[in-house]
Amino acid sequence: MQKQEAWWKGAVIYQLIPRSFADGNADGIGDLQGLANRLGYLRWLGVDAIWLTPLYPSPLEDGGYDITDFKDIHPELGDLASFHRFLTAAHDQGIKVILDLVLNHTSVLHPWFQRARWAKKGSQERDVYVWNDDENRYCDAPVLFRKFESSNWEWDEVAQQYYFHRFLRHQPDLNYENSWVQDQMLEVIDFWIERGVDGFRLDAVPFLFESEGSRCEGLPETHAFLKKVRQRVDSHSRDILLLAEAIQPINEAASYLDDKELHGAFNFVLTAHLFAAVANGECKQLRLCLEKSQQAVSGSRWALPLRNHDELWLGDGHLIPVGIIQTIRDGLHQGHGHWLNWGINRRLAPLLNGDLRANRLLNALLYSLPGMPCIYYGDELGMGDWPGLRDRDPNRTPMAWTSVRNGGFSSAPDPLLVLPPITSPGYDYRVVNVEVQKQLPGSLLNWHRRMLTCRRLLPALRHGDFKLLESSHPSVIVYSRTCETMTVLVAANFSAAGSSLRLDLSKWKGKRTREVLWGCEYPTADKDWFIYLPSYGFSWWLIGEVDDSIR
Ligand code: NOJ
Repeated sequence: MQKQEAWWKGAVIYQLIPRSFADGNADGIGDLQGLANRLGYLRWLGVDAIWLTPLYPSPLEDGGYDITDFKDIHPELGDLASFHRFLTAAHDQGIKVILDLVLNHTSVLHPWFQRARWAKKGSQERDVYVWNDDENRYCDAPVLFRKFESSNWEWDEVAQQYYFHRFLRHQPDLNYENSWVQDQMLEVIDFWIERGVDGFRLDAVPFLFESEGSRCEGLPETHAFLKKVRQRVDSHSRDILLLAEAIQPINEAASYLDDKELHGAFNFVLTAHLFAAVANGECKQLRLCLEKSQQAVSGSRWALPLRNHDELWLGDGHLIPVGIIQTIRDGLHQGHGHWLNWGINRRLAPLLNGDLRANRLLNALLYSLPGMPCIYYGDELGMGDWPGLRDRDPNRTPMAWTSVRNGGFSSAPDPLLVLPPITSPGYDYRVVNVEVQKQLPGSLLNWHRRMLTCRRLLPALRHGDFKLLESSHPSVIVYSRTCETMTVLVAANFSAAGSSLRLDLSKWKGKRTREVLWGCEYPTADKDWFIYLPSYGFSWWLIGEVDDSIR
């Protein structure tokens, strides 16, 4: 019998923050009940899976990435019973559920850490975290949250030692040298698989082990542990996605992907190059990045976000060249003013200065490049952000559902809301919301839905081969996606001006060509095939005879 494709191949993933999505019990905080009530919307939009940012008990010093119990639900979001109800409802709608799993660290309030700091130095209990008598170890490991921390070590008065933390001081790193830690985390994975989840977004995977004289990233021991994670997942007879968050250069991010380790990884380098191409109107670097991504690993393994709940991470030259960072900072709206730790802290729409053409262009690439497109909740509406809020909260405000108070997110009094809904000019929830945009045929939301419908009808976009084609214009990128039944040709213009160009389609000479989105016939394919793309314009063409229902 032929093996069925893994569910995640080409899946469209919708990332949401449960606290900010929909409030089901009117306490001002989004929760699982609220989310379950909104599943119909996600199905209507046409996504395949939801990725939930952490929903475990947490003091929320880092948006829930500081966990006090890996096997429970934060009481403000619900409990294990409401999780079960939500998961069943999601599955009933045909939507998969991916949990965020933080392997690297816990909260300082986790009982393991409290036990460790009171335990005897050198004891088993103390050894669950990474301790040292001074702060001079692992000095080559960069401080990641440099806006908030100046060292990876924090002094603990009770323990009379320093503990290591790659992120905030509230998030001590677990000690993966300790096999007890490994066993505990593998059990956490079992726990959630047994409850029915379909995958994990593995947070901060490069940092599990430390070693003197290195950046403490992607060490062989880390890969060895991730292989154990894979084995454990494979021991369950379901298809479970393991998706790595590794903000690393392409080859390093790809190093987690093989048949014994993880299934997928985010391609943050590609994200950065997409923004760079918009910023300077040129595709050369984007092409190189796509070539490199394909060479590193099969395209279906990349998950591609435009934005997420963090800053648009650009780094200091380690991830992408400094010149590209500069291009993005200079070329995107207020790129300089919103720099956080290593990147720009804005949502997609304001980052593009509200330019809907550029917004559609980037999303058209998102939906036609190989891999798993990731939509960040609210970006399908062009939602705005609140720059004045702390840390990454500007991008984490309540989802705008309707024009009523609080955007229909919650009926609680304003002061109780998890974060203020957006009311800034151009992005006010009374205008930018699901209800309004559903009624406007030309809205960004309806456009997304249509693109996702087309994508579903075009298996070549979901799992077809990817091939870059020569383009005679520096602002235009051209590629094809081909599967057994069809070829889709894509051209995208990163220039703010219109671009016309000649394409060589001799490979498909004499074949019918039809623009997919508007159903418009073009001349048959030929050696000299001329096209015009307006400012930030793009097109998808079907090449050859295909079912007429695709229009
Ligand atoms: C990556 C997550 O995306 C980010 O939000 C979090 O702060 C760090 N990992 C630490 O868990």
